[in-house]
Amino acid sequence: MAITQEAVLRALSQVIDPDLGRDLVSLGMIRDLRIEGRRIAFRVVLTTPACPLKEHIEQACRRAIALLVDPEAQVDIQMEARVTTARTSEEALLPGVRNLIAVASGKGGVGKSTVAVNLAVALAKSGARVGLLDTDIYGPSIPTMFGLRGVRPQLTEARKILPVEKFGVRLLSMGFLVDPDTPVVWRGPMVSSAVRQFLADADWGELDYLVLDLPPGTGDIQLTLVQTVPLTGAVIVSTPQEVALADARKGVMMFRHVRVPVLGLVENMAYFVPPDLPDRRYYLFGQGGARRLAEELEVPFLGEIPLEETIRAGGDEGVPVLIRNPEGAAARAFRELAERVAQQVAIRNASAPPTEKVEILFR
Ligand SMILES: Nc1ncnc2c1ncn2[C@@H]1O[C@H](COP(=O)(O)OP(=O)(O)OP(=O)(O)O)[C@@H](O)[C@H]1O
Ligand SMILES: [Mg+2]
Repeated sequence: MAITQEAVLRALSQVIDPDLGRDLVSLGMIRDLRIEGRRIAFRVVLTTPACPLKEHIEQACRRAIALLVDPEAQVDIQMEARVTTARTSEEALLPGVRNLIAVASGKGGVGKSTVAVNLAVALAKSGARVGLLDTDIYGPSIPTMFGLRGVRPQLTEARKILPVEKFGVRLLSMGFLVDPDTPVVWRGPMVSSAVRQFLADADWGELDYLVLDLPPGTGDIQLTLVQTVPLTGAVIVSTPQEVALADARKGVMMFRHVRVPVLGLVENMAYFVPPDLPDRRYYLFGQGGARRLAEELEVPFLGEIPLEETIRAGGDEGVPVLIRNPEGAAARAFRELAERVAQQVAIRNASAPPTEKVEILFR
């Protein structure tokens, strides 16, 4: 019997995207279905190139066709991705940016910038178009972490600031505009307007993800951000220590208060792997704290990042660990983190309404 479009689509409608909980056909993920005799070809368009389930979904499509259509069919599947967005193209600010992801924490020094940098690089390596904005005006660390100290961004013909590109990521930081060794002594309103400029007066172009590295705490910059541009969601970084966890809780509460979805909690410096004993894990600061907190607060747990010399050295030397040592355990942990973040963004875009800018402030 000849293979029909209907039969193939019926089979593929049995394949469920585990994240979104619906089948590929009704999600509109199957495109360009062509049938010639016993040859079946189509494209599967996923919600992110960083999809951890790419293989799984492809195999499930093959199985469904073999089982429900024709075990002898020759199936040619092209896996692609188009990152979803809950924003509209009519946004006044950053109309070409599909998703804005803030990396935040209550406590300082827990590794926000390290996580933001490696998250951005991992997403870019997966094939997404990625930007990274350092909103830490007082202590910008992105230029150092990318080996770009002293670099100045160019202006476009339209007099917009052009982000600097490195390791596949488009970057802006206050560190590009001021002397890195002179402390910036600014008052709150000036800080807010600097951040607003980076969002309004820079030419970010088309981006799938713009990662925002936030300064520690729940102060002016965080509030300016949610007032200026609606965030897709926030990733909260904690270390396993009690004090850090208490501050992570405050961070989650702050974003909830201003109705920014929390994409999840990541535990940085979760355990130590001695370089000479790569199978050992030492939980120096306690084990499982962030995972338990995530469960308690009912936010996704996005994973554990080990405490590793290569991560610190990557930051100090300006070559992120994902570039320096892409096959190591740290790089693997960051890749998995990026996949989970992309997954949460896709889930959020498929389920929740767009985040609104928050008009009312609390101080
Ligand atoms: N998993 C890790 N393993 C080893 N070193 C790390 C790790 N995460 C962060 N570090 C190091 O810890 C220091 C602080 O990290 P980072 O600057 O990313 O923290 P932060 O939360 O952004 O700090 P701030 O609150 O000042 O912005 C850096 O020297 C960084 O290289
Ligand atoms: Mg930082």
